[in-house]
Amino acid sequence: MIFVTRRTHFNAAHRLNNPSKSEEWNQETYGKCNYPNWHGHNYIIEVTVAGEPDQETGYVIDLGKLKKIIKERITDPCDHRNLNLDVPFLEGIIPTSENLVKVFYEQLKQDVEQSASKGSVLYSVKLFETERNVAEYCPYRWTK
Ligand code: NI
Repeated sequence: MIFVTRRTHFNAAHRLNNPSKSEEWNQETYGKCNYPNWHGHNYIIEVTVAGEPDQETGYVIDLGKLKKIIKERITDPCDHRNLNLDVPFLEGIIPTSENLVKVFYEQLKQDVEQSASKGSVLYSVKLFETERNVAEYCPYRWTK
């Protein structure tokens, strides 16, 4: 099994707030991330495809194609946007890294697997919100 990863970055604003909870609950739970007038992150997204190289091309996935899919499905809709307000596929979602990474995975899965070699899967999506805070969605690694 070969793992191929493409790393991309985008900038976006967000606010963590659960509208079904009180103001106090939100402030206590999210702290600065709950400030009403938004804040920004320099996000880094890493998309990993796993499989065997195609016999003719030697690729698990053409990284040019993967780059294009990430651009169309994630960075074009999200870059320099407000993740709470501007991105249709994030509507109603509290934009924590955990929630974002799972939605991003679903956004990418079909296109990535169609472009990859036979039997390859979208293995994981990792989102760095800061250098120190990272969330990863990897449905293959752990099942309850
Ligand atoms: Ni934040």
